[in-house]
Amino acid sequence: MKCCTLIRGMMLLLGWLIAFPMSSSVFAGNPAPEAIPPARRFEPGKGTFLLNGKPFVVKAAEVHYPRIPEPYWEHRILMCKALGMNTLCLYIFWNYHEREPRKFDFTGNGDIARFCRLAQKHGMYVIVRPGPYVCAEWEMGGLPWWLLRKDGIRLRTNDPYYLECVGLFLKAVGKELAPLQFSRGGNILMVQVENEYGAYATDKAHVAAIRDMVRAAGFTDVTLFQCDWSSTFKRNGLDDLLWTINFGTGADIDGQFKNLRAARPDSPMMCSEFWSGWFDHWGRKHETRNADTMVRGIRDMLDRGISFSLYMTHGGTTFGWWGGANNPAYSAMCSSYDYDAPISEAGWVTPKYEKLRALLQKYTSAPLPDPPAPMPIITIPEFRMARAVSVFEALPEPKVSQDIQPMETFGQGWGTILYSTSLPHAVKAGETLAIDEVHDWAQVFADGKLLARLDRRKKEFSFKLPSDLPAGTRLDILVEAMGRVNFGGSIHDRKGITKKVTLGAEELKNWQVYNLPPDYAFVAATKAKEGISVVGPAWWAGSFDLETTGDTFLDLRDWGKGMVWVNGHALGRFWEIGPQQTLFLPGCWLKKGRNEVIVLDLKGPREPVLRGLDKPILDQLRGIVSDKHRKPGQTLCLQGEKPVAEGTLATGGGWQKVDFPTPTEGRYLCLEICSTFDPNQAAAIAELELIGTDGKPLSRENWRAVYADSEETRSGNATADKVYDLQESTFWAAEPKAKCPHALVIDLGTTVRATGLRILSRAEKGAPGQVKDCRVYLKASPFRL
Ligand code: GLA
Ligand code: CA
Repeated sequence: MKCCTLIRGMMLLLGWLIAFPMSSSVFAGNPAPEAIPPARRFEPGKGTFLLNGKPFVVKAAEVHYPRIPEPYWEHRILMCKALGMNTLCLYIFWNYHEREPRKFDFTGNGDIARFCRLAQKHGMYVIVRPGPYVCAEWEMGGLPWWLLRKDGIRLRTNDPYYLECVGLFLKAVGKELAPLQFSRGGNILMVQVENEYGAYATDKAHVAAIRDMVRAAGFTDVTLFQCDWSSTFKRNGLDDLLWTINFGTGADIDGQFKNLRAARPDSPMMCSEFWSGWFDHWGRKHETRNADTMVRGIRDMLDRGISFSLYMTHGGTTFGWWGGANNPAYSAMCSSYDYDAPISEAGWVTPKYEKLRALLQKYTSAPLPDPPAPMPIITIPEFRMARAVSVFEALPEPKVSQDIQPMETFGQGWGTILYSTSLPHAVKAGETLAIDEVHDWAQVFADGKLLARLDRRKKEFSFKLPSDLPAGTRLDILVEAMGRVNFGGSIHDRKGITKKVTLGAEELKNWQVYNLPPDYAFVAATKAKEGISVVGPAWWAGSFDLETTGDTFLDLRDWGKGMVWVNGHALGRFWEIGPQQTLFLPGCWLKKGRNEVIVLDLKGPREPVLRGLDKPILDQLRGIVSDKHRKPGQTLCLQGEKPVAEGTLATGGGWQKVDFPTPTEGRYLCLEICSTFDPNQAAAIAELELIGTDGKPLSRENWRAVYADSEETRSGNATADKVYDLQESTFWAAEPKAKCPHALVIDLGTTVRATGLRILSRAEKGAPGQVKDCRVYLKASPFRL
């Protein structure tokens, strides 16, 4: 037996070695089909994928295993199957598995091999996307925080330490999943290399290094691919990888594939992320995308034989502290990752699901199975969190540090950190206390009294002392980390206070530092007590009893800002500003009898009560004055201003450039839109970029929208900041009735020298609202408003 297997193995290897150089596969680097048993072969053929030699359209459902409690995995897989999908597409989240360097954990909710086997049990294939960077609105895009302990580390480059860590991680993934490649009897068809690298940098050598490590991890007989946007896929496209592109609901399908078809006429076409909805940020309107538009996009792809993965088919929940953030402007993600996907956060059928299922049935020969019944749902009557203890009364042993250091330096990955010092001398009211920088939400106390709250989202990094403070005053700065940036150059996002604290001209020193991590061992030891009245940041504890368990949504509307744990499970972050007001509490984490709840509320509740609802509340913003960039009565005055350049763009959309006659310096940018190609004069812009003297785009990290004459926020989030959020699928749009001219004003944060402005239109068919005639102003001083 053994000998037979060995000989077969050697022949296979020999066949593979002989066949490799003259592979008939479209891409030289993919495995030679000859090496793989004919009955277990998946490969890119001419214009289509081939599964065992027959044309195959991938209909993939993107779901994320850490966003679904493990006992529910099978339910969600069956939901995807009943929807008409044939494949599941999953990222592997590096930081979920390697929370401490070199300690890998693939058990429980991280048992990725079990997830794949469950999918196989139900006849579903799998596409694996092991990153190492995944984006996904996930803390640091999936990269482990401890990488940031290394000074000067350059993430997503060929930095030797980064590559060494990536190699070990990919090897660990290979150990779990390489045996499950299709050729070896498993169900894994394809593996992705990196993620949208073109949106980050141009560095083929790096993508090649990741590709080689994916192969070295054992993924030798699956199709390897790289995904990007239609505007960026050429930047790092490697000859031997399959190329796929990502875009969202509403995008013009033919337009999106035009460049790819031209570059790779024989390749199978695939949209590796078709965005069903979008994600929510704290303090911003709940995002939705139209169901009919989404279904039409999928129909258009299927009619063209284009494979797709629907991102997300089921978004689920970003439990605990795993939510990421976008930048610029810094904006942390909500805990719900419902995504307005066809399968709701709690795994329910939605109208979008029904519409898509009806379509996919038409493209499936056998009748689709019925979706499984939803999980039982319960309500929990209101109960009081009877025990409490102030955060300041439940501190761990401090660490002592002369200088301010970020959280990472003190060995803490997530949660809240307290920096404490006493004032060396008396200070007068009106003196400025500046924190460079707050990552991400700070409260400053003098001898226990709250002086200020600073919010990184609003670039609040300093304030004036409201009263005199005597020498020896205890100054406490309590900083909550809200999710590391998961996209763009700012992924090097250290937490806590990143550099220093100054009072007037003096830098404050001699700090005591207290780590308040979200690990349950720490949280459970905080020992809230009955009969104590607390104000301000505190730990709250309570319990409720159940006769029957079921899914529910914890109502946090009475609470301020913090995190919740139930029976040891971290449910996620909450924040009164919304739009999310409830936290999904899966029934599989509840038990009959007593259930224990702990809440960390950094602000303090209005009333320390909780209840379980039978529906989520994901769309209730509170206390937000306006997300628009025009104050009532404000009008921009351009009289006497001289434009740097005037331009008339060509029809047809895409990126277009307005060149400046001479390189120009300035800090304040104004784009005046004189006319658009839209018959109704609608106006919209997806992205703006200033080009530097080296011909490369300048950093947009410090950009801030100052003014927009009109912003459409009734049917979406089309505010002016969307032109520099680095996302090509989000856009600024003027209100439908507002007519040209329009103007956007942006403070660039620093003085730049630019040679031109690039403008990207919307990705939807016909590039709605595309700019035609425009004027660009760039100057040193602010515009008159
Ligand atoms: C990109 C990324 C995904 C996700 C989506 C937006 O396409 O590849 O990980 O961040 O955007 O949801
Ligand atoms: Ca955008």
